[in-house]
Amino acid sequence: MDKLKFSTVFMIISFFATAQYVYAQGDVAQGEAEFVVCAVCHGVNGEGNATLNSPRISGMEPYYTVRQLQYFRDGLRAPDASDIYGTQMRAISMTLEDDQVLQDLAAYIGTLDSPPSAATIVGADINAGKASYALCQACHAPDGTGNEALNTPSLVGQHDWYVERQIMNYRDSIRGTSPQDIFGAQMRPMVGTLASDEAVTNVAAYIKTLQ
Ligand code: HEC
Ligand code: HEC
Repeated sequence: MDKLKFSTVFMIISFFATAQYVYAQGDVAQGEAEFVVCAVCHGVNGEGNATLNSPRISGMEPYYTVRQLQYFRDGLRAPDASDIYGTQMRAISMTLEDDQVLQDLAAYIGTLDSPPSAATIVGADINAGKASYALCQACHAPDGTGNEALNTPSLVGQHDWYVERQIMNYRDSIRGTSPQDIFGAQMRPMVGTLASDEAVTNVAAYIKTLQ
């Protein structure tokens, strides 16, 4: 085998080795044990907690959960204190030793269920929000359930105050600015289409109506 072929084969093997590692199956029982600390803020069923600014994570897609935990741990999300709420989550993520723990947690979180959160935004223009959402649905799906092939999370059942805050975080360069954050980089130009705080609130209120 000449040098070139050897390096090609090596590349292929290391690609599969990495891919296998990243997508290793999580152990639900292990994840349940690890989740005890998460429940303090996110609730025992992952329902979220407005007082603690913690989003709903019940049933979250493992590919998205793992990525967010890696992002927090590696400083791609909440890289500095301007992300007040993300900073709390970053501190927790840094206690998670290895990627297997993240897989286990994500597998367990994926099994959780809780009722969709109640709407908290009042007086928003839902129709205007719906019109803005026409662009979002290309990636997040018309019914808001997300699309694994496009790396988007489901927005259904999520707290409206959290959705509103994330959109503003993308807009205000608090989330998605790290050069390595290739997924957040897709979101930033999209929220640029929402011209005002009101437009952000309207789209968050519309997303809350999705089932
Ligand atoms: C001290 C409270 C606290 C604890 C404990 C905590 N979190 Fe969080 N978590 C938060 C907050 C606050 C946010 C929202 C950050 C933001 O607004 O950007 C968050 C966000 C997240 C997100 C991102 C959700 C999304 O939609 O992008 C995930 C995933 C998550 N937490 C998982 C976990 C897991 C797993 C654990 C346990 C290992 C945990 N959290 C422990 C407070 C906490
Ligand atoms: C080009 C595809 C694309 C479009 C269009 C798009 N998004 Fe996203 N969005 C993404 C991706 C990818 C992520 C996940 C980023 C990550 O993994 O960190 C995301 C994440 C989000 C999040 C964070 C969810 C969470 O749990 O933290 C919200 C909220 C969101 N998008 C709302 C919207 C809204 C509102 C629109 C329309 C104005 C929109 N998106 C349009 C690709 C898109």
